[in-house]
Amino acid sequence: MGKDVIIACDFPTKEATMAFLDKFVDERPFVKIGMELFYAEGPEIVRDIKARGHKIFLDLKLHDIPNTVQRAMAVLSRLDVDMCNLHAAGTKAMMEAALTGLTRPDGTRPLLIAVTQLTSTSEERMQQDLLIDRPLEEVVMHYAKNAAASGLDGVVCSPKESPVVHDACGKGFLTVTPGVRFADSAVGDQVRVTTPAQAKELGSDYIVVGRPITAAEDPVAAYRRCVAEFCGE
Ligand code: C5P
Repeated sequence: MGKDVIIACDFPTKEATMAFLDKFVDERPFVKIGMELFYAEGPEIVRDIKARGHKIFLDLKLHDIPNTVQRAMAVLSRLDVDMCNLHAAGTKAMMEAALTGLTRPDGTRPLLIAVTQLTSTSEERMQQDLLIDRPLEEVVMHYAKNAAASGLDGVVCSPKESPVVHDACGKGFLTVTPGVRFADSAVGDQVRVTTPAQAKELGSDYIVVGRPITAAEDPVAAYRRCVAEFCGE
């Protein structure tokens, strides 16, 4: 699996998404569809984007009892997405069930990636609200190891965490990393950011890039710059 740039298509409607994707004529970027767009437009949006030749990361972050997640994953694998995800907090039993559900009749399946702790959760909130009385980093690594032990393909994390995740879970365990900004662009609400080139240096397998591409004056040029920095020699 080669390194790739995934564009976070955080648009509210199909029209806005398609207007954005229409700008891409020569390439078919890997795109991430999140809850907002999926809940607004339903599974049809996945089929429509797939039909245009894009790979799809369906970012729905499943978390429920193992049987429910297994059955939901079976539906997602029939939708022919290339990558999907769940919360590692659902336990190893839930992650193993998810993988069972993902398997397609032809033996292929989408990549399955785990969310460890959301980056919006601070150590203080995790300890006070969730009663998890350990350092945040230890919890993140423990969840990553649980995901690897359950047979998942990787985790969502910061590019800065890619080296420790690879050390703990193996080089083949994928790191899918948001929080990417060009050296000369606005950071916005992201806190710990890296450039695409730094993410490459740190060993990230995929970078997830939203506004630096979607809000750029020339999104195709911004995408190409990301690819050149992250995937180039
Ligand atoms: O616009 P921006 O590049 O910040 O978009 C990053 C994307 O990655 C968004 O879709 C955001 O929800 C997602 N994401 C993130 N941090 C995480 C997990 C997902 O920014 N820890």
